[in-house]
Amino acid sequence: MASTQAEDAQRLYDCRGAKYDDSFHPRFARHMVELIQPQAGEHVLDLACGTGLVSYRASTAVGSGSVTGVDISRGMLAEAETKRSMHRPPNVTFHRHSITELDSLAALRGRQFDVITCCSALVLFPYPGDVLKQWVPYLKSGGRLIVDVTHPQNLTAGIICEKVGNILSRPVPWSRLNFTKPEDLQTIMEAAGLQRVKVILMSQLGEANGRLEDCIRPSFSQPKIHQEHEIADADSIFEKMVATEPLKHLASPDIREKARGVFQDEWRKAANEAGKVLEIDGVFMGIGYKK
Ligand SMILES: C[S@@+](CC[C@H](N)C(=O)[O-])C[C@H]1O[C@@H](n2cnc3c(N)ncnc32)[C@H](O)[C@@H]1O
Repeated sequence: MASTQAEDAQRLYDCRGAKYDDSFHPRFARHMVELIQPQAGEHVLDLACGTGLVSYRASTAVGSGSVTGVDISRGMLAEAETKRSMHRPPNVTFHRHSITELDSLAALRGRQFDVITCCSALVLFPYPGDVLKQWVPYLKSGGRLIVDVTHPQNLTAGIICEKVGNILSRPVPWSRLNFTKPEDLQTIMEAAGLQRVKVILMSQLGEANGRLEDCIRPSFSQPKIHQEHEIADADSIFEKMVATEPLKHLASPDIREKARGVFQDEWRKAANEAGKVLEIDGVFMGIGYKK
């Protein structure tokens, strides 16, 4: 029987907790908090809170307010709890639960929040519009929600593997093909009942000076190019990708060569007129308000 999204997420993230923060994620989480600006006394719901990067930053800002983090991964939450002794925040609680089923989380019953954050996770859901619709009822009237999705050319090989998985009916555990342009995020946020939705393009890896304002791109047509690959790189990149845990099923002997062929075709299609496959360092970041 096929595994569920929540089962896939646990398999992928349980073993990543200890090393997760050795990445761009702490800086990116800080930028999300700087953008949404939790205020003293506010109550924040941090969905897919992982190791608590957004939760702890938000807890400093809200002071006497509170932060409620929800995540499905024991490994990620264990790391979040480990940090508690470092931060000693009185106002952060973590719950292990699927954020696709918030209605069955007793700690949220009857509660509404000033701010909902979901950092680096919406692309993990096959039906992101449906999950957003489930979250918005937990926002107070006038409350704000912030969420990001990757640019379609951010880690181009990952999105091509998603196409390969779909073509060969061996799905990969992310759903980035839902977001090919900024309007795709805007549309599902509005359909979920959010207003005054604004989507911006920003760098995910960050700038050397670490400043948020330098990560925000002036327009969608001016993304930050991170890397250029050659068409001839397809084979070595395919090998690297299928050696990773989430994609190793594409390397099973019965489909490996088929998968390689589809990857090569899609990689070639992704090349620009100069024959280069571009990697963009970018995410679409959306903020919206509940009426
Ligand atoms: C890339 S991490 C992001 C963690 C954190 N928000 C951050 O920015 O560092 C994605 C997180 O989504 C969580 N996740 C994925 N599917 C989930 C689900 N159905 N319910 C709750 N958490 C989920 C994973 O366990 C993981 O911690």
